[in-house]
Amino acid sequence: MRLSKRLKAISDLINPNSKIIDVGADHAFLDIYLNLYKKCECLAIDKSKYACRSALENADKYKANIKVITNDGLKGIDLNNEIIVISGMGTKNIMKILDFDIKNDLILSSHTNIEDLKNFLKEKKYYIYKEVIVDEYKKYDIIYARKEEKYD
Ligand SMILES: C[S@@+](CC[C@H](N)C(=O)[O-])C[C@H]1O[C@@H](n2cnc3c(N)ncnc32)[C@H](O)[C@@H]1O
Repeated sequence: MRLSKRLKAISDLINPNSKIIDVGADHAFLDIYLNLYKKCECLAIDKSKYACRSALENADKYKANIKVITNDGLKGIDLNNEIIVISGMGTKNIMKILDFDIKNDLILSSHTNIEDLKNFLKEKKYYIYKEVIVDEYKKYDIIYARKEEKYD
C-alpha cells in the first residue's frame, strides 16, 4: 500500500515492533502500514464512529491486525510505553488531548500554530528529538518529542 508523503514521513520515524496509539486515526492507513510493514502493535482511536468503521473496513481489506476504538482522545486509555501519534489536527485540539501528566513519546503533526505547539511541549518538559518538514501541497511540520526527565 502507498501512504501519502506526510504519513510516510511519520512512519519513517517509527522503529519496527513499536507500540503505537494513533489518536484521530480516521482511515487508519498509518496504522495498517505500520502493522503490515513494521510489525507494529497499533491502537487506532477516533471520536467518529464513521471513521472507525472505515478504519475497520480498511484493516480488513489489507489484512492488517490493528485495534480500532471510538473514543474522545486518550480519555480512559491505559498508557504504558506506546508512542502516541496525533496528526492531521489543529494545535488547540492536540493540546486538549494531551492536557494531562503525560510521559509517552509523541509524534505530532499539526495543521496550525506550530509555535504554540512547541511552547506547549516545552511547558510539559518535552524536547524535540526529531523534526521533519514535508512538502506535500503545503508544508507540514512533523515533530517527534520526548519527555526530558525520562532520559536523565
Ligand atoms: C483530518 S483527520 C486526520 C487523519 C490522520 N491522522 C492523518 O493525519 O491523515 C482528523 C481525525 O481526527 C479525529 N479527531 C478529532 N478530534 C479527536 C479527538 N478528540 N479524539 C479522537 N479523534 C479525534 C476526527 O474525527 C478525524 O477523523
